[in-house]
Amino acid sequence: MIEIFTAAEIERARPAGRLVADILRTIHDRTTVGTNLLTIDRWAAEMIAAAGATSCYVDYAPSFGRGPFGHYICTAVNDAVLHGMPHDYAIRDGDLLTLDLAVIVDGFAADSALSVVVGDSTGHSESLALIEATERALAAGIAAARPDARIGDVSHAMGTVLTEAGYPINTEFGGHGIGGTMHQEPHVSNTGRPGRGYRLRPGLMLALEPWAMIDTDRLVTDDDGWTLRSATGCRTAHSEHTIAITDAGAEILTART
Ligand code: MF3
Ligand code: CO
Repeated sequence: MIEIFTAAEIERARPAGRLVADILRTIHDRTTVGTNLLTIDRWAAEMIAAAGATSCYVDYAPSFGRGPFGHYICTAVNDAVLHGMPHDYAIRDGDLLTLDLAVIVDGFAADSALSVVVGDSTGHSESLALIEATERALAAGIAAARPDARIGDVSHAMGTVLTEAGYPINTEFGGHGIGGTMHQEPHVSNTGRPGRGYRLRPGLMLALEPWAMIDTDRLVTDDDGWTLRSATGCRTAHSEHTIAITDAGAEILTART
């Protein structure tokens, strides 16, 4: 079922979006060379608790993971891209770090992700280009997400940016509807055909999340049973926002401003 929310409900979803944005910005600001992924997880847990919010991840136990995730944020380094499980690792100069966070506040979920190169990015132009492509794909998807557009238009907009930038696209994991829970219908593939699929309307909330790997579309699962890495060991990036479709287009609920 695809849920459509009233303007009052979208209003209630704003605090979740703001909290996700605040936490991601704070963690981004604090993270330096040497920061441990477990420290980042603790920061996320503390900020979620301080806000009286609920983690979407800690008890999350889908078929593709091994038991409950048990952590509060996804931290993925270099070849790790999705569901990066925080572990005892100190970030090194030039590492590409992806943070992905979802929480529930007042009954509404928000979900957002970003990638950055930590420390000195000199010599990492390939990583910066990859990150930038996922950010541009996200912006294109958001621009295409307006009333009467189809999910296929949004998918196509994101896929076109990634393809033109030269990255293969994996279709196993993509974006999703969002509302009272983190994952709802419809699925939003990161590539698709214009004019196909569900017709967007005001009140629909979506998490768009283009992600890419430099030279492969294949994932492998880490020994931790959760973290998904590029099959070739190449670097990866991920950009995600939660948006609400309005009469005027789309509004980004997780904007970091
Ligand atoms: N936030 C991810 C998504 O965008 C889901 C991560 S689930 C976790 O859909 F358990 F790995 F954290
Ligand atoms: Co998501």
